Amino acid sequence: MSRIAYVNGRYVPQRDAAVNVEDRGYQFGDGVYEVIHVHDGRFVDTDLHLARLARSLRELAIARPMEDAALLAVLREVVRRNRIREGIVYMQVSRGVARRDHAFPRDAAPALVITARHGAAFPRDIDAWTGTAVTVPDIRWGRVDIKTVNLLPNCLAKQKAREAGAYEAILIDRDGNVTEGSSTTVWAVDAEGVLRTRHLDHHILPGCTRAAVIALMEAAGIRFEERGLTEAELRAAREIFLTSATSYVKPMVRLDGAAVGDGTPGPVARRLFELFSRHADGAAHNVSRLASFSGIG
Ligand code: PDD
Repeated sequence: MSRIAYVNGRYVPQRDAAVNVEDRGYQFGDGVYEVIHVHDGRFVDTDLHLARLARSLRELAIARPMEDAALLAVLREVVRRNRIREGIVYMQVSRGVARRDHAFPRDAAPALVITARHGAAFPRDIDAWTGTAVTVPDIRWGRVDIKTVNLLPNCLAKQKAREAGAYEAILIDRDGNVTEGSSTTVWAVDAEGVLRTRHLDHHILPGCTRAAVIALMEAAGIRFEERGLTEAELRAAREIFLTSATSYVKPMVRLDGAAVGDGTPGPVARRLFELFSRHADGAAHNVSRLASFSGIG
């Protein structure tokens, strides 16, 4: 079965799907995106992703291509047409097509592309869901809280990780502080046993999985601090794990070749993996209300 993409109002075979050469997303990276996990045919944390999309568009003064209800209907239709039970849906909104000029065009309509693809089912066994990480300098711009398609520094960082045989590149800023992963939020249990993740500002993306995990922890009475780590604190951490729509809760058992803790997933990662698995399975939690505390939207 050939894959179907949605491009500006039409469902087309993906091999024929194309955007204009003067699309500003293509020429300037002038666009934003979201990746939503599809589990058992349902979207995980849709409200959070749609809220973040709206925020990204607002921050860049790109018009919304459609209202959320209509967008959700298109997302569902793309998933249905591609018969996705487990996988991801990708959506991208660019400022649109205009004669090349750095300044914003006056009358371009935003361009919307949505694709979906099959992926592995949600992991059930955390011990088989571990990975390794390397540290690399964070060379990104000053507004990475906006989920733009300008991902070249992230791609360079991820490539460094691949070349080192690692899953993720953890980014270290000029002051020696951990920001986030190249495509993930970083969490750690520090040497004193405190679960920490960096506070939100313009220097990290407000992760939807981060927000969901925070809401789940608040509901479960699990303590944590929104306090970033230095590189040295990261190296001394008992546990390091990542969150994202595609990494879920993923323990990092080695950092730059050295074992993290005893080199196996720690108790905090295990607990959160379980909580998030139940959440992804659709258990009673409606985290979006709680997650409104978490900086999205
Ligand atoms: N990446 N930080 C960065 C830089 C990211 O690109 C992502 C997501 C996250 C985690 O956000 P969320 O929990 O909402 O997935 C943090 C997606 C998965 C991607 O680019 O493919």
